[in-house]
Amino acid sequence: MQKQKVILVTGANRGMGLETCRELVAMGHRVLLGGRDRDAATRAAQSLASDLVEAVRLDVTSPSDIDALARHIDQQYGRLDVLVNNAGIMIDGDDGHSPSICAADIDAVERTLRVNTLGPMMVINAMLPLMQRVDDARIINISSGMGQLSDMGGNYPGYRLSKTALNALTRIYAAELDPARFKVNAVCPGWVRTDMGGSNAELSLEAGVDTAIWLATSDDATGSGGLYRKREPIDW
Ligand SMILES: NC(=O)c1ccc[n+]([C@@H]2O[C@H](COP(=O)([O-])OP(=O)(O)OC[C@H]3O[C@@H](n4cnc5c(N)ncnc54)[C@H](OP(=O)(O)O)[C@@H]3O)[C@@H](O)[C@H]2O)c1
Repeated sequence: MQKQKVILVTGANRGMGLETCRELVAMGHRVLLGGRDRDAATRAAQSLASDLVEAVRLDVTSPSDIDALARHIDQQYGRLDVLVNNAGIMIDGDDGHSPSICAADIDAVERTLRVNTLGPMMVINAMLPLMQRVDDARIINISSGMGQLSDMGGNYPGYRLSKTALNALTRIYAAELDPARFKVNAVCPGWVRTDMGGSNAELSLEAGVDTAIWLATSDDATGSGGLYRKREPIDW
């Protein structure tokens, strides 16, 4: 059995975040299930029926939530081995359309950047002191093929910009942190059946989280500064 890790998953009250928690708990890890609504997070944690999961309140845009959680993890566990930045929104197309960048709703773009890009950055910075206490710290940023510069298309400007910026953020942390002790990677999960992906998406939840779980836990996942899909590095 692998050493038990202390793992924080953001945006984990539903969708891929909850599935990620479910699988990490089944592997025997200690999991903090983050949700911006405490009741929703508590219900999600209870659905896993395990002593290994703890619901924690975390709106990734809230500095006070982030600081309070870092203090809690310090007091309760004294370290953090893995951070999965999963929380995300795609609000460009809330009205059923996928708007052109030429008619972008700047407020929606800004809100998306706050959740999908600046949120992970604030959470990483707050958790770094706890992660610097472990030998094999891992940060996994859940990105999207819609943020790939090598395969960039039109529409959904806020979402695309936020995920491209999340990819850049992944590279910057990987460049600054010692790769012998810190692995920082991004994941494109594919098109997954969740509230965001919709019921016509091709992948199950299990398939959608497979690469993130692998990067979070496997001794075979040795790289840092990569973008991964199906456990393989892909172009940015
Ligand atoms: N589904 C796909 O096909 C697909 C493809 C590529 C990438 N992704 C990425 O995968 C990740 C998970 O997506 P999903 O499909 O599981 O989406 P989802 O079912 O819509 O779940 C999104 C989660 O993010 C949370 N969240 C939103 N804003 C938050 C905030 N400010 N602070 C904390 N949590 C917040 C939501 O909480 P509430 O319940 O409180 O709203 C929810 O738990 C996202 O980063 C998404 O961009 C998804």
